[in-house]
Amino acid sequence: MKAKIGLFGFGAVGQGFYEILNSMNGTAPGHVARICVRDRYKTRPLSPENFIFEPAEILNDPEITHIIEVIDRPEDAFIIVKKALELGKTVISANKAMLARRLPDLLKIQQQHGGKLLYEASACGSIPIFQNLEHYYAHGEISAVEGVFNGSTNYILTRMDMDGLDFDEALGLAQQLGFAESDPSLDIDGHDPASKLVLIAAHAFGQWVEPAQVVTFGIRNIRRADLEFAKANGQKIRLLASARKSATGALQLLVLPTLVGPDSSFYALENEYNGILIQSKFIENQLLTGKGAGSLPTGFAVLSDLAGSVKNGSSRNNRPLQLQRKTPHFFETLRVYCRCPDAGLLRQLPFEKILRKEAGESGFQAEAEIAAVNLAPVIVALRQNGGFLAGMASSPAHAQIQSNVSLVSAPV
Ligand SMILES: NC(=O)c1ccc[n+]([C@@H]2O[C@H](COP(=O)([O-])OP(=O)(O)OC[C@H]3O[C@@H](n4cnc5c(N)ncnc54)[C@H](OP(=O)(O)O)[C@@H]3O)[C@@H](O)[C@H]2O)c1
Repeated sequence: MKAKIGLFGFGAVGQGFYEILNSMNGTAPGHVARICVRDRYKTRPLSPENFIFEPAEILNDPEITHIIEVIDRPEDAFIIVKKALELGKTVISANKAMLARRLPDLLKIQQQHGGKLLYEASACGSIPIFQNLEHYYAHGEISAVEGVFNGSTNYILTRMDMDGLDFDEALGLAQQLGFAESDPSLDIDGHDPASKLVLIAAHAFGQWVEPAQVVTFGIRNIRRADLEFAKANGQKIRLLASARKSATGALQLLVLPTLVGPDSSFYALENEYNGILIQSKFIENQLLTGKGAGSLPTGFAVLSDLAGSVKNGSSRNNRPLQLQRKTPHFFETLRVYCRCPDAGLLRQLPFEKILRKEAGESGFQAEAEIAAVNLAPVIVALRQNGGFLAGMASSPAHAQIQSNVSLVSAPV
């Protein structure tokens, strides 16, 4: 049987999904019965009679079995998804900001009312990470999941690196291409990859960490001096999200720009591509890559959930997700690169050791060691001060970095 679909949102993802569905002719797993959007005055690529503005017209239609929620407002999305699950509908959502805050509540509602919640499109666009973790890795004994989880910032870093664009120019391009969130601070301050990390960690480890507890630093403060430092070392800067389990079961969740060399799994990931490295007991390292943003790749991930649920009834994601609430513990000592505009501030930061430092036009550049537990206050100070911090060789999957830049010691 084909699904009768109520589509919420007709922006980048909604239109991508709609285009793919309509290109499938007789093989499409469903048809869109109604499209609900917000702005009554917007010019749209379909004629006005295709659109409605009252969610109830979809939610109260008993023939609409499948809800696709691809809107950009997390609070509105939660109300729509909650109501649809209470009505026992199948819901497919791409809204990581909403899911990262409300997944445990929604799982309870799903259990009580028999609806089904699927969200493959919410993390890393076209990479089927949740299907993989739920099915292939059901007994996988995962020790770490790490990667580039944000297509927009990877695109910005690539354009800055390859074309010499400045940060604002590269961000503008990412927005034009539909990669960036409508509120770009979610991307450039690292909140978007932190949301995805929480969801991915939930499926990899069965543990629920609040997004605010992920230590997060984005690329808003990146400057040419930082890219030049990386280049001089034969490296690039990538925004990496990582969830690592210690031998004692503690979970550490970080989102941090990181210097990666040619032998890192993430060095070759350019533009809007995402990559996820899963480390597990029997397989060791497995890398999944694919487009992490954009209308069609994300629309296809939505379609994949829809097709799976139509084919298998409600049995897709059939391992009920049992989540244990967990406070993360920051147990590693990291080697980091730090650019700090203010010598006095650099002296105060709680590094274990400063290994090298150099004074330049944009402040002091240093290589240092820091206990991960001390990252949060350092990040707050650097964020306010226009400084920048990036991890160096943070995991076994990264090569140990041998700096070939000789940094001259300068008084700090
Ligand atoms: N873009 C990507 O590459 C990507 C990738 C993965 C996940 N996502 C996620 O997918 C979702 C959609 O992203 P997008 O890029 O498609 O956003 P977008 O281009 O900004 O489009 C958002 C759509 O949501 C509609 N909308 C907002 N509030 C609504 C409400 N209360 N009721 C009905 N419709 C409402 C908007 O209506 P109007 O048209 O009337 O303004 C618009 O059509 C977000 O959660 C995003 O995080 C995006």
